[in-house]
Amino acid sequence: MKKILLQLDVDPQPCSFDAITAIDAGVDTILRHGNVSVDNVVPLVHGAMFTRGANHLSSTGIFLGGKDVSKVEDVASRISETFFDSIRVSVFLDPAGANTTAVAAVIAAKRHISLATSAGMKTCDAIILGGTGPVGQRVSRLLATEGVHVRLVSRSLKRASTCCQSILEKIPNAHVEATSEDMIEAVIGSADLIISAGKSGIKMLTATQLSQAISNKVCIDLNAIPPAGIDGVHTTDHARRDGTKHFYGALGVGGMKMKLHKAAIRQLFQTNDQWLDAEELLVLSERLMLSE
Ligand SMILES: NC(=O)c1ccc[n+]([C@@H]2O[C@H](COP(=O)([O-])OP(=O)(O)OC[C@H]3O[C@@H](n4cnc5c(N)ncnc54)[C@H](OP(=O)(O)O)[C@@H]3O)[C@@H](O)[C@H]2O)c1
Repeated sequence: MKKILLQLDVDPQPCSFDAITAIDAGVDTILRHGNVSVDNVVPLVHGAMFTRGANHLSSTGIFLGGKDVSKVEDVASRISETFFDSIRVSVFLDPAGANTTAVAAVIAAKRHISLATSAGMKTCDAIILGGTGPVGQRVSRLLATEGVHVRLVSRSLKRASTCCQSILEKIPNAHVEATSEDMIEAVIGSADLIISAGKSGIKMLTATQLSQAISNKVCIDLNAIPPAGIDGVHTTDHARRDGTKHFYGALGVGGMKMKLHKAAIRQLFQTNDQWLDAEELLVLSERLMLSE
């Protein structure tokens, strides 16, 4: 049976990066649909559920993407409601590459610091710059799930609070704190982990601010477009060490992101009942022991 991927995208044009990666991961045929919404997704999902017979449901998978994370989440809920009993296909969610990028960043951080806290140990402190974007929200959620104290930074305290609230709805005991960018210098001294997920081509942290990060062990800049999001971090940095700090740039985590994306596509066709969101992707990457 040929592997068919239904690529659903809430943006007008389905993302070519996602299509090419799927082909490279071994998908035989991709059916690409843009402008997917809660109003038009059900017939598309029915096509995946009912056309090829119950024994072949694992030969069809759904990839759901698009820049607008909240639209993607609404469409994802509608897809989930459309399935019933065992009549379902596996689904991989990666809005704007946020899930795979966030997981790759968390894996990089875990190489150098223990995120989970046991009794008597200090909680890991993280600062997420650009925390309100798709990547920033996902990385904050993943770290919060691991027990990290997350400061989610935005130019707007209100936007940061909204994002923290949505994390708390999913993880009620999360330790997430809305932080406005003018508070960075007051809090950076205690940050074990700094991740910059700001808009591409925007400087989010200066060299002076970074020098104040005296507890910092891992510093990750996900922006690949000059100037650097964090002054002094190079796009190709991959665990580059300077004193106690380890630096990663966008290309430095990009290799893991690509491996994970392809592994998730392959995983879709193992069974028909998988739901691969950020948390499941982190588990998958650890189970497969993906490494660069
Ligand atoms: N390495 C990879 O494989 C990979 C994959 C995907 C994405 N990325 C990169 O990851 C980063 C985050 O992506 P994204 O899509 O989540 O980003 P985004 O939505 O474009 O921006 C993230 C946040 O940056 C803040 N921001 C926007 N303009 C700003 C400005 N002028 N000054 C300061 N802050 C500003 C905004 O927060 P507030 O308005 O709330 O302040 C926004 O929510 C990007 O650099 C992207 O290129 C890398």
